Amino acid sequence: MDAPASGTPEEEIERERSQISAALERIRRAPSLEDLEAEKVALLGRRGFLSEKLRALGALPPAERARVGARLNDHRADIEREISGRRLALKEEGRERRLRAAALDATLPGRGRRPGAVHPLSRAIDDIVRLFQARGFVPVDGPEIEDEEHNFTALNIPPEHPARAMHDTFYLPDGRLLRTHTSPVQIRALEEQGPPLRILAVGRVYRRDADVTHMPMFHQVEGLWVDDRVTFAGLKGLLTDVLRAFFARELPVRFRPSYFPFTEPSAEVDVGCVFCEGAGCRVCKGSGWLEVLGSGLVHPALYRRLGIDPERWSGLAFGLGVERLTMLRERVSDIRYFYDNDLRFLRSPGGESYVCD
Ligand code: PHE
Repeated sequence: MDAPASGTPEEEIERERSQISAALERIRRAPSLEDLEAEKVALLGRRGFLSEKLRALGALPPAERARVGARLNDHRADIEREISGRRLALKEEGRERRLRAAALDATLPGRGRRPGAVHPLSRAIDDIVRLFQARGFVPVDGPEIEDEEHNFTALNIPPEHPARAMHDTFYLPDGRLLRTHTSPVQIRALEEQGPPLRILAVGRVYRRDADVTHMPMFHQVEGLWVDDRVTFAGLKGLLTDVLRAFFARELPVRFRPSYFPFTEPSAEVDVGCVFCEGAGCRVCKGSGWLEVLGSGLVHPALYRRLGIDPERWSGLAFGLGVERLTMLRERVSDIRYFYDNDLRFLRSPGGESYVCD
């Protein structure tokens, strides 16, 4: 670019003009802002093409100086205009490229917000409580840390009973324990209110147990109805109605003789298997029936202990596991899903990967 000047003034002016137009062309094609900056330095920098020319002005005769000076100023204006034009274009190109690279598809629908929802266990509890409240049961609470008296002794569960063993029950250092069922609330209600009463106790219970159908903590609903004419027939009608309403189906319900220390007679209640409709499958172990709760008429020993006349009063009691009922209703294959807080499960408890086969 700074080739020594030679030849006639006309030739020199011509050469300068073509050098400038070549430079302008390079500016217009500069591939990057860095290249553009280098071009600018080479042309306008302190030791650049134009500066050298301007410095040479001093040696010219005054008339010549003004002419050449004006020409050089025109060149500078051209160069500056082209540079700023190219700079803008390069910046715009860069922006386009970055946006394309970000692969932003402005036509995609937004992600939106998912509304919260009630946990499947809470939903089941709400349903159960509503069904029993409609039948006159009044919700009550009891402590989760119980004494042996309320959890066992008053329920006619003798000291040598296996449920009391260390490997079945969580004991505190002071001898109290985490209640193993909601039945102690029966005792507390009888102590505090006395008959007649119709109570429902919902809450957490604890047992040393853990597998796909057992957790060390789970939920039970306990019912106790003591009045002067409560019968086993009444118990059957009540539980059959409630179970059918809970499952929203006319399920077969059967009462199977069983044993609990605090009821006499006692019955375990089964519903027809909701998976195979009674044909026999893996979940019902081929029997066609699923056990869903324990029940019976209150054992006279409980009344006597509390000074209540067993000839005057009769009562029915039942206890059901909320997790179990919910697993059957929502077809959940593993009890642990309830506590994982995995949104995929919570949004669809009966969804593909969670169902029993
Ligand atoms: N408490 C019993 C259990 O946890 C269930 C039950 C309650 C049975 C009331 C009969 C009457 O297994």
